[in-house]
Amino acid sequence: MQSDPMIVVTGASGQLGRELQRKASMLPEFEFLFADRHVLDIRTHSHVREVIAGARPQAVINCAAYTRVDLAEDEPEEAMRVNGAGAGYVAEACHRAGALMVHVSTDYVFDGTARRPYTEADTCAPLSVYGSTKLEGERRIDEQTGRHLILRTSWLYSAYGHNFFRTMLRLAKETGSLRVVNDQVASPTYAGRLAEDIMALLRRALVDRRHIEYGTYHYTQSGEASWYDFAAEIMRQAGTGVPVTPVESGDFPTKARRPAYSKLDTTKFVANTGLPVVPWQQGVAECLSHYLSLT
Ligand SMILES: NC(=O)c1ccc[n+]([C@@H]2O[C@H](COP(=O)([O-])OP(=O)(O)OC[C@H]3O[C@@H](n4cnc5c(N)ncnc54)[C@H](OP(=O)(O)O)[C@@H]3O)[C@@H](O)[C@H]2O)c1
Repeated sequence: MQSDPMIVVTGASGQLGRELQRKASMLPEFEFLFADRHVLDIRTHSHVREVIAGARPQAVINCAAYTRVDLAEDEPEEAMRVNGAGAGYVAEACHRAGALMVHVSTDYVFDGTARRPYTEADTCAPLSVYGSTKLEGERRIDEQTGRHLILRTSWLYSAYGHNFFRTMLRLAKETGSLRVVNDQVASPTYAGRLAEDIMALLRRALVDRRHIEYGTYHYTQSGEASWYDFAAEIMRQAGTGVPVTPVESGDFPTKARRPAYSKLDTTKFVANTGLPVVPWQQGVAECLSHYLSLT
């Protein structure tokens, strides 16, 4: 008997990887290999080739990444091994296997000096090691395989793992008040929605066989917010009554520089995929509902 077609997910225990596991039922005609770093370490080229060739996937969703933005300033080689070289190894293995590669990149490839949302055509100029290594990953993917969808997103959060959403709820409980920076602006993006939209994209590409132009897309939820706005909305929707005070980035110095403004323009994504993007506040509501179901 012929087995179901396969989709491989790397970095499967991270927040996006876990959301993809929750949404796997959206593609019941596929078998999934959810590979955490123990099953598939993307730093080792031979290992990546072996696992992906063995799985013979139709698509690989690369969620594996070095995501500790501040630590990356002290560990640039390690960040590059994962985000640069590793992404390239996955792309090369996808090319050999004839698989579509879906990869996730970041708004931190931009320097934040724009006065309007960044489009895919805008010049990248990362301010941090993390941003540079993610950009190098994009470059290597482009070099290794033409059959890829790179989704650049921003401020990803979910009910799992370490992220701003969970940190704010924890700090609110522990301290009863929050001070949050209001001079960095982008679009918070719920990883649960991103996971759903990746599944919908794969349905269009692999099941419906609809044409989707390969390349780079900006994918976020709509609207924009500062971290302060984001925190205030989480508190409002959670009904904590905890006050949030806006402060400047200078009050919270971090090792890595971050763009002051990194809203991404999603026009190309919406036009080419037919998938709508929803307001970021709706993402907060969906995440909160999942978070409350776990507690
Ligand atoms: N989080 C954000 O705000 C944000 C914003 C924009 C874009 N992105 C991008 O979105 C993607 C998903 O991010 P996320 O938030 O889900 O990150 P995450 O929660 O940190 O997940 C990343 C996963 O990759 C794994 N990993 C690290 N090194 C690996 C290696 N060498 N081989 C295989 N797996 C490895 C990690 O495992 P360990 O936990 O064991 O290290 C972790 O499970 C990433 O590409 C990230 O750059 C994230």
